[in-house]
Amino acid sequence: MRVVHNVAELRIAVKAMREKGFRIGFVPTMGFLHEGHASLIQQCKNRCDATVVSIFVNPTQFGPKEDLATYPSDLEADQSLCLKLGVNLLFLPATAEMYPSAFQTFIEPGAVAEPLCGKYRPGHFRGVATVVAKLFNMVQPDLAFFGQKDLQQTAVIKRMVRDLNLPVDIAVVPTLREYDGLAMSSRNIYLSTDERKRARCISLGLFAAEAAFMAGERDTASLLTRTNECLWGVDELQYCELVDAQNLDPLVGQVDRAAAICVAAYVGSTRLIDNIILSPNQA
Ligand code: PAF
Repeated sequence: MRVVHNVAELRIAVKAMREKGFRIGFVPTMGFLHEGHASLIQQCKNRCDATVVSIFVNPTQFGPKEDLATYPSDLEADQSLCLKLGVNLLFLPATAEMYPSAFQTFIEPGAVAEPLCGKYRPGHFRGVATVVAKLFNMVQPDLAFFGQKDLQQTAVIKRMVRDLNLPVDIAVVPTLREYDGLAMSSRNIYLSTDERKRARCISLGLFAAEAAFMAGERDTASLLTRTNECLWGVDELQYCELVDAQNLDPLVGQVDRAAAICVAAYVGSTRLIDNIILSPNQA
């Protein structure tokens, strides 16, 4: 596994892969890798000839009161995992490499970034879209992999790729879960023992709605009630919404197309998000 820290080295390494005719896959991350990331990398290995992973905690996607300064990190463990998984190229840029002084050009996502997390994390998707566009320009992958847990992030990125004609395909990989259903996240490390127990109510609520949907329930209000009834363990619910899975517009009445129930909530001081896709064609 080659490890590079700057864009010039990255471009040389990627060029060499491209000259060999390799299909290049890319997994952008903020590090503190867990099994969810491993499954993205595994998918990338299955579908591409060369796998590039980046680890960069992107300051522009954190709000002033968010956890940028304390975001968990374990670079040594991340590097060992990448090596074990057969990553070919690991990109570890410093902040100054990604955002040189006087940096002033951003990508402004549209309506898809406004609901759900967009309401509670102003500027977050602007930061995500900007760093992902920059990383795409640096790596120039054929295929890039993102987790379904960050459903709105995947919607914003797909829309950006389409609107700006970026030459990359986006693959969305199903959410990996802990033994009790909690969606894997680097931020789960923040949870105390009691919070960790309570946090599982989010996935249980989503599974309850999914079970009702599979049994034929199509009424959006009833499905949302199934989820809400389980959310006893959270300290502050930011949203629990049923939306169109593509454009994230709210769905009212009957579920007549692919939809998602999305939840964001605080358990203690940790903000957790999760979602479940409801697809009428699969039920
Ligand atoms: O999902 C993440 O880890 C980040 O938002 C991403 C896509 C690496 C951009 O910083």
